[in-house]
Amino acid sequence: MAKRTAIHIDSSTRAIITGASSGIGAALAVAMAKRGASVALLARRRERLEAVAEQVREAGGTAHVITADISKRDQAEAATRQAVELMGGVDVLVNNAGRGNMASVEDTTQEMIESMFALNVYALWYTTGVVLPHMKAQHKGHIVNISSVAGTMAFPFNSAYVAAKHACTGFTAALRSELVETGVEASAVYPAGVETEWGDVTEGGAIGSLFFQGIKNSRKIARERDVDLAPLSPMIAADEVAQIIIDSIENPQRCDIFTHNGTLDHAVHALVDRPTLEQRFTPVYLGMRKSYEEL
Ligand SMILES: NC(=O)c1ccc[n+]([C@@H]2O[C@H](COP(=O)([O-])OP(=O)(O)OC[C@H]3O[C@@H](n4cnc5c(N)ncnc54)[C@H](OP(=O)(O)O)[C@@H]3O)[C@@H](O)[C@H]2O)c1
Repeated sequence: MAKRTAIHIDSSTRAIITGASSGIGAALAVAMAKRGASVALLARRRERLEAVAEQVREAGGTAHVITADISKRDQAEAATRQAVELMGGVDVLVNNAGRGNMASVEDTTQEMIESMFALNVYALWYTTGVVLPHMKAQHKGHIVNISSVAGTMAFPFNSAYVAAKHACTGFTAALRSELVETGVEASAVYPAGVETEWGDVTEGGAIGSLFFQGIKNSRKIARERDVDLAPLSPMIAADEVAQIIIDSIENPQRCDIFTHNGTLDHAVHALVDRPTLEQRFTPVYLGMRKSYEEL
């Protein structure tokens, strides 16, 4: 059994968090700061990053604000290098920045495909490529990639996001296969609904409304068909996800972390018997189709 490298988050920990200006990234930065950690906060919106940095300092941590569009290789690499220099090294990288989209397959433009993959997938190589030599040299480190339930199963009308998050899942597994016995860990985290801005800032329209309206429609469809609605996990707070991420770094027994009850079962079901899973989710898919057509 391979030995796993646990990292206790404390005042010696140096962490880089992408997408730290809101949602899960911001909550994680503050949660790590409560343990005294140094955090490098990466995102595009400086004012929002400064506000998170203030919370980090109030919580007892050290904050470094670095603005960058990490979907651009030169900016992502320069920002990550700057973070390592400012903190004098790096122990944890959380590839969290991400954005959804809303479009049927035939409505998905070239621009959407490219921007979805540039941010949610290509950026994984840019930031990770910079930290790996440092982590390997110290035989210690943990790279956490925030995938999604959409990285293990599918929802309609966001195929570019679903494909990108499946790529994130694959990237994490490939990375782990390169890291065996180096002392460097990698994990993927698969959240379902989290109360953040994610559902409102999607490309192509607010996918949050598509899901919410779609689920309402799907209840009606399930009643009409006299079938059970597939269980969907309730939304959880970003703070809760942040705590789960910290636990997974401190106790790295698992490398695929499902934050919501029931979502691991769906992931296994998708692998073992996708048609039956799809059948269970048919009212949800049809409910979302109705809301997509109406939006
Ligand atoms: N919320 C959910 O229900 C949910 C569910 C499953 C998975 N996830 C995943 O969780 C991660 C965090 O999302 P969230 O829910 O916390 O959403 P969020 O509040 O919208 O946060 C997204 C973060 O990504 C940053 N970002 C976006 N584009 C960027 C770019 N080009 N360069 C640098 N940073 C960029 C944003 O900052 P700026 O705009 O300032 O750049 C922001 O800090 C994402 O990967 C998302 O796909 C979320």
